[in-house]
Amino acid sequence: MKGIVFSEFIEMVEEEFSPQMADDIIEAASAKLDSGGSYTSVGVYDHLELVELVTELSKASGVEMNELVTTFGTHLAGRFAEIYPSFFEKAESTLDFLESVDNHIHVEVLKLYPEAELPRFKTQRTGNQLMMEYQSKRPFSALAKGLIQGSAIYFGEQLSVEEVDLSNGIGNHMRFTITSQL
Ligand code: HEM
Repeated sequence: MKGIVFSEFIEMVEEEFSPQMADDIIEAASAKLDSGGSYTSVGVYDHLELVELVTELSKASGVEMNELVTTFGTHLAGRFAEIYPSFFEKAESTLDFLESVDNHIHVEVLKLYPEAELPRFKTQRTGNQLMMEYQSKRPFSALAKGLIQGSAIYFGEQLSVEEVDLSNGIGNHMRFTITSQL
């Protein structure tokens, strides 16, 4: 998994919790981190390191893991909007933007970073509703949910997001039904 994901996660912990909390969870997880807990945006790291960091954050904060990963996804969407504004500017609404992730945004991401490991999304649009079916080798459907919600914040829209777990609790296959309240 790309280093940017890790450096943004640490930044989210510093902002939403505290810099001390970020240091504490890296320290607590360090025995299980091949990287030793230091990440650069150009590096590539095992996604399980992120799972370890979230596990420690959950223990230290008492907040459930999926909720933390979703909060992180919301933060990450805001950062993507700053780092890659053109993807957002091209879209007129959250649903247009989300519909373009699989067949445009992630395709471009893969050209920039051939080593990226991206999830797949099947989409089906009906008016103000978008069905988005997430499928990945990694269990990050909670991250997808946060990215969906964070995208709506960028566009200033209200969305309702319903989810159906197709993975028996693993978190690598989820159907989101997203309705724009606009
Ligand atoms: C400008 C917008 C976006 C950019 C630049 C972007 C880029 C990326 C990058 C660089 C990764 C890491 C890949 C790796 O570490 O190997 C990633 C992963 C991921 N992206 Fe996107 N992405 C964008 C929007 C979205 C949106 C809106 C969603 C959800 C609807 C999404 C869902 C995911 C998920 C869930 C992952 C984690 C990997 C996995 O589940 O297997 N992305 N994306």
